[in-house]
Amino acid sequence: MIKNSILDPDMEWIITMIETHVPFGQSILWIISMMASIYIRISRCFLDGLMDITGLYYWTKRNQIPPITNPLLLKTATELAEKTRTGQLKCETLVRVFIDRIKLVNPLINAVVADCFNDAIKEAKEYDQRIERALNDPLVKDDVLELPLLGIPITIKECIPVKGMPNTGGLYSRKDFRVKEDAQVVKNIRKSGAIILGVTNVPEFLLWWDTNNHVYGRARNPYDLSRITGGSSGGEAAIQAAAGAIIGVGSDIGGSLRIPPFFCGTFGHKPSSNMTNIEGNFPYCGHKSRERLLVNGPLCRYAMDLKPLYKVIIADNEKAMAQLDLDCPVDLKKSRFYFLYEDGDSFKTPVSSDIRETLKRARHFLEKDCGFTCIDAQIPLMKYNFLIFLTTLGDCDAPLLGEEIVERRGRLNAWPELIKSLFGRSKFRKITCMNVILENAIYSPQTRHKRWYRKIIDMGKQLGEQLDSMLEDGSILIMPCLPEKAPKHSGTFLRVNNCGYTSVFNVLEMPVTQVSMGIGHRSKMPVGFQIIAKRLNDRFTLAVAELLAKEFGGWQPPCEVRIK
Ligand SMILES: *[C@@H]1O[C@H](CO)[C@@H](O)[C@H](O)[C@H]1NC(C)=O
Repeated sequence: MIKNSILDPDMEWIITMIETHVPFGQSILWIISMMASIYIRISRCFLDGLMDITGLYYWTKRNQIPPITNPLLLKTATELAEKTRTGQLKCETLVRVFIDRIKLVNPLINAVVADCFNDAIKEAKEYDQRIERALNDPLVKDDVLELPLLGIPITIKECIPVKGMPNTGGLYSRKDFRVKEDAQVVKNIRKSGAIILGVTNVPEFLLWWDTNNHVYGRARNPYDLSRITGGSSGGEAAIQAAAGAIIGVGSDIGGSLRIPPFFCGTFGHKPSSNMTNIEGNFPYCGHKSRERLLVNGPLCRYAMDLKPLYKVIIADNEKAMAQLDLDCPVDLKKSRFYFLYEDGDSFKTPVSSDIRETLKRARHFLEKDCGFTCIDAQIPLMKYNFLIFLTTLGDCDAPLLGEEIVERRGRLNAWPELIKSLFGRSKFRKITCMNVILENAIYSPQTRHKRWYRKIIDMGKQLGEQLDSMLEDGSILIMPCLPEKAPKHSGTFLRVNNCGYTSVFNVLEMPVTQVSMGIGHRSKMPVGFQIIAKRLNDRFTLAVAELLAKEFGGWQPPCEVRIK
């Protein structure tokens, strides 16, 4: 009991005393812990109920997205690049189809926040000329036909610097800032032949798990406009789900390449730590020691596009390319598939029946149809995932959030700012002010030297060791990405601890792929889960994602498809 509790080590003597000296000590402790657990579960029900009641303010708005009428909108990037390369499809045509679609859907979902459509059309025309020359004259030396993403429209998360575009990270104080030079990952994207159409919406300071800020406003979920798209790559996932884009680049420090694609029914891959170049991302993760938590990565509507885009993202890093060896064939017959249906924390929202059933469907397929070994995972420390993430985040001399949020010019005066924001007079969101207030109340730079704090950090290390040995030889862990579908716009505050499901894997530095499994029977919203492997085994999670997408169909459109 002591071993698996987060009780302050200074208090452990009480437990030991009861166990050894009090008659029926063991049983008494068991009863106390059961009662605590029941109490926590009841509190959770109450908080979820409270969030659902406030959610009534936002009327459900389904079936709002206009129908898809052009078949080009429904092809994978890989297929489209094959067509542009062989001259069957003009890059300009392709780019214009996606621009028109963005113009049609974006007013509803507010996903693309700044565009460069004119430049995109110009670039497409230039590619078309080069392609035509290269195809018609064998003497022309131009490697344009080798470009992996030739003429493919792409969008980029606003926090990643794209020349000429804003890079506010959702901060109002940066609203007039324009980027002078592409980030390295954007340079890689351009070199691949992809054509950037614009940048996509993010939360304020990328801080929260819904996408809303005072520069651009809120992004909305294409399946139900009253619900969130998730964060922080929320604009990216929403525009892909609404068929306004097929591939894009996002970033992830606690779930941002998994939560939005989960809520919007698309795919995302969080790379192993230290593989992708994050230079220039705004906000920066705050401290050198946190860099291992932050990654850039691919977001795609179709699973098979994840790998080619991932390869482009890391193209400048030969060491990473060699370590990951993404094209090395994967033999899943040797892998064990561990399933975890719930993390065991009573203070999180219980995993919905839709998600549970989705996990079981995948298991049935992998076990019965593919003949793979599937096992129920036992990971007792997993229930502390959110605490492990928060303590790890705080375990360095980084400036406090209250300082970061004003770009290190002083410190946010959180209470007055919160009151101002209640009356719509603040440049900051309420949620941001509340986060700073919580930080002031709970955390100070001395906190991390307390014994209970070190204990939680150690638990994270133990969890990492356990998973590392469990996931030897290309084995896989499959578990919920979050316990339930996208909440209403007002429903995020009291449920933020649910994000522990995703954020712990940033601490553990492991690769994770979010897999879309279509639409839930009951919720009528996208369902899916995450696939985890040992660090550097990215190719395994990607292979399983492709396999499942092929079997179950992956993304399902949020609207009618009317193609003649
Ligand atoms: C990742 O990089 C950080 C420095 O940013 C370093 O401390 C850490 O050891 C690296 N992790 C691995 C597994 O290489």
